[in-house]
Amino acid sequence: MTEQDFVPKPYENQVQEGKASYRSPSNIALVKYWGKKKDQIPANPSISFTLDACATTTTLTYKKRGYKADDYSYELFFEGHKKDAFKPKIDVFLGRIEKYLPFLKEYHFEIETSNSFPHSSGIASSASGMSALALCFMHLEKELVPEMTQDYFIKKASFLARLGSGSACRSIEGDLVQWGTHENTAGSTDLYGIKYPYEVHHVFQNYHDTILLVDKGQKQVSSTVGHDLMHGHPFAERRFDQAHENLTKLRSIFKSGDLNSFIKIVEGEALTLHAMMMTSMPYFVLMKPNTLEIINKIWAFREQSKTHPCFTLDAGANVHVLYPESEKSEVDQFIQNELVAYCENGQYLCDRIGFGAKKM
Ligand code: PMV
Repeated sequence: MTEQDFVPKPYENQVQEGKASYRSPSNIALVKYWGKKKDQIPANPSISFTLDACATTTTLTYKKRGYKADDYSYELFFEGHKKDAFKPKIDVFLGRIEKYLPFLKEYHFEIETSNSFPHSSGIASSASGMSALALCFMHLEKELVPEMTQDYFIKKASFLARLGSGSACRSIEGDLVQWGTHENTAGSTDLYGIKYPYEVHHVFQNYHDTILLVDKGQKQVSSTVGHDLMHGHPFAERRFDQAHENLTKLRSIFKSGDLNSFIKIVEGEALTLHAMMMTSMPYFVLMKPNTLEIINKIWAFREQSKTHPCFTLDAGANVHVLYPESEKSEVDQFIQNELVAYCENGQYLCDRIGFGAKKM
């Protein structure tokens, strides 16, 4: 498919008003997206586990305005309160997607959104938030085009979510989603996320992700700025190639369930992401002392217990501990006994691999 396939023909149906509600999860990348081109086209392909518990629920109420307007008309509520602070981000999103949803200025919208995870937990809600909103808009478009197929609906929802926040395109489906053109992955594209098309060993079913909240504060450097610093970065080209190589390696690892090789890729990716930050100009560090304490504890525990918890990091100090269902009791005990002490106010979130967004 091409970008042009997402530009609709003139709508033949009329829709006066309605409401849609979606719950969309967050996701955690195994091979990281870091660096982008124009229109949120990724500089390298990425793959993520879709999460389950960490999610955003968004309700969109729409009503036809009855006259031709040249502005967007909407109100935004976050956790029950009017939140104008989010409007600049939404305005940018609407501006980017209007070409593909030409009805946007014809309606007045009310957008009500809330997160399942605590506000200011340092968990980015852009992936879950943008994907939930994209799905709500697609619900309206499906009313305008009732013959739309489910396949097109999903692809376009991911395509639109991408224009809100790149990684959001990996939150529409589960449980393993790849985004970005990769020569060894059939159907992969820069335009939207696809369900991983190859065999995945059962050890990866029900994989757990316990998110240790090391630092709940606002990050000093946004991911938008971080992505941008990959332009002219001395190691960028090599890093982009490495992401392709890691995706190729993951194919046989997913098939065989070789956890030791899985860990090498996932932890290597997390540290490479942060290495890119530390070698940007200007350079920056998002890890905190407790991030490193946790990493060292995980390595020591893995060595001594012969279990397979591994860590990954997003663009922040929090640590995601990934582990298989079969090792849950041992690893949970270890987290309780040795890692929770490094979390801000002892806070952490228990999540697991999930199956994508749901209509409410
Ligand atoms: O979707 P963005 O622009 O917030 O970027 C997310 C980048 C990482 O979370 C660091 C990596 C990824 O692939 O999710």
